[in-house]
Amino acid sequence: MEFVDIHGHYAWGIDDGIRDLEEAKAALKNASNIGVKVIAATPHVISGTHFEKEIQHFRERISELKREANKLGIEVHEGSELFLNHDAPSAIRNGFFIPYEHTKYALCEFDVRRNLPDDEDEVEEYLYALKSHGYTPVVAHVERYFKDKIDIDRVSEWVDMGYIIQVNASSLVGTHGSHVLKNAEALIENNLAMLIASDTHRIEGRRSPSTLNDAYKVVCKKYGEETAHILIHDNPLHILHNEPIERTQVKVGFFKKLFGR
Ligand SMILES: [Fe+2]
Repeated sequence: MEFVDIHGHYAWGIDDGIRDLEEAKAALKNASNIGVKVIAATPHVISGTHFEKEIQHFRERISELKREANKLGIEVHEGSELFLNHDAPSAIRNGFFIPYEHTKYALCEFDVRRNLPDDEDEVEEYLYALKSHGYTPVVAHVERYFKDKIDIDRVSEWVDMGYIIQVNASSLVGTHGSHVLKNAEALIENNLAMLIASDTHRIEGRRSPSTLNDAYKVVCKKYGEETAHILIHDNPLHILHNEPIERTQVKVGFFKKLFGR
């Protein structure tokens, strides 16, 4: 199986991800060992904290990463994970983030430490800021924003807006607890999950590239190989090619539908 991993903090020494060149080499080796052929480097970009100078520095570091990855036969695409806060509209207006290279898709996130605010001004307005500037938001680890049962109707509205829903491999193997696992499953079972990524921060363990392989096995077993292939290969590649994504066709059994999760 060839994997395409479009959310990872491989670009070293920038954020809370990979710390130095040696770690980056080890993380790339880990990725290569499980069959990752293409990655996007998506360092955290914090609206209101990172400006032109920082963005330039991140781009240079990603260029260095590209050279290292090439040695292992891994293709690297530029990107960032834009933190959406009250400074986001201005950051987006000024271009202080890095969309996926040569595309109109941009990875973005909310604060995973708190419940997603009910207030549209703090969530939907920021997503719309990207859309109104011509970018399609790829919303990172959606399963992690809901401390109670995931609000499927709200996520469906994002999908209706054309936004892309990303799930973390770590969530599907239970790293963030059974509640987040159930949220991730609910996204897949409602055919709202569009891609799975490693969100790599470390060279080994649950936040490393190899978790993608573990999640692949879980998804194959529960939802079939075709679904797993769409989520971990086809759709990430569609995004990097600036193409529309494919929707999955997961069918949930009658009893599961009736009695919930
Ligand atoms: Fe991330």
